[in-house]
Amino acid sequence: MARNFEQVGIVGAGLMGSGIAQVCAQAGMRVVMMDKDPEALEKAKKDIAWSVGKFVEKGKIEEDKETVLSRISVAADLKDMKDVQIVIENVYEDIDLKREVYKTLSSIVGKETLLASDTSAIPITEFAAVTRYPERVLGLHFFSPAQMMRAVEVIRGVTTSDEVMNDGVAFVEMIGKKPIRVERDIAGFLLNRVNFPSTIEAIRLVEEGIATVAEIDEGMRLAFGRRMGPFETGDMVGLDVMMKAMMSTYEETKDMKFYPPVLMQRKVTAGHLGIKTRKGWYDYNEDGTKKI
Ligand SMILES: NC(=O)c1ccc[n+]([C@@H]2O[C@H](COP(=O)([O-])OP(=O)(O)OC[C@H]3O[C@@H](n4cnc5c(N)ncnc54)[C@H](O)[C@@H]3O)[C@@H](O)[C@H]2O)c1
Repeated sequence: MARNFEQVGIVGAGLMGSGIAQVCAQAGMRVVMMDKDPEALEKAKKDIAWSVGKFVEKGKIEEDKETVLSRISVAADLKDMKDVQIVIENVYEDIDLKREVYKTLSSIVGKETLLASDTSAIPITEFAAVTRYPERVLGLHFFSPAQMMRAVEVIRGVTTSDEVMNDGVAFVEMIGKKPIRVERDIAGFLLNRVNFPSTIEAIRLVEEGIATVAEIDEGMRLAFGRRMGPFETGDMVGLDVMMKAMMSTYEETKDMKFYPPVLMQRKVTAGHLGIKTRKGWYDYNEDGTKKI
């Protein structure tokens, strides 16, 4: 029988953490959302309130906004994760930082609690190895914006038990998403292994002056039925986040098809990270809409 997931812990309340917190609350679960930065928590609360409001306005959920929001509480300390049945970790894509979080969490949560990482590319076994119950650690890789994107990769680390994989799949279904099972713990997992080489090729074509960012995005939308082109996706994800994930995949495979092109590296150095900095492949207005 599937485990009960009444209370979910979210660690790291940035772009992904806040989106996932909202998805879980909309699915009727109680959520403890933790971040070490009080400003991030404030922003997450505002963003979630705005987004839930949009769902209500468009008739996509039946509950009222306040009911959904009342399920989310905030916390400044990992100790507040002690009663949850699953923790979804969304801190920065930094292996040492994440390992520290897992070490601490492992001494706080119950032995039944699942620990799930939303890492974009770091092998799950890296985190399992520092915990007391490595069979309970798995990957749950969401896609941005988490409120809208339906796929979630469920990733088996070397030590993840069959039961935990099945519970991970059941959890993803409970929150209204489609689980994509990834049975081996490889850097970049499944969907980014497919997506990165095409994004990298698109950046190289821009570097070579063959086409513009806007032309490639439009072509990819119109030819392949995508809602966003690779550059629009990159600006939403964050160029820094995507570049780190490409680099982790490259480091494990030593395959140049995953190596971030120079143009992308320079944009990250310049702080042109996408919508969050109002400048990336495109320029953005205050409200996040593209400048024409
Ligand atoms: N951006 C995407 O599209 C995307 C998609 C899927 C997965 N991811 C992955 O999700 C994770 C988070 O990415 P994001 O884009 O939400 O980043 P973000 O920068 O928006 O948020 C990260 C948050 O983690 C918090 N944090 C840092 N250290 C912490 C700690 N020790 N304890 C608690 N909170 C801490 C920060 O204050 C920040 O609010 C990364 O591993 C990333 O690779 C990102």
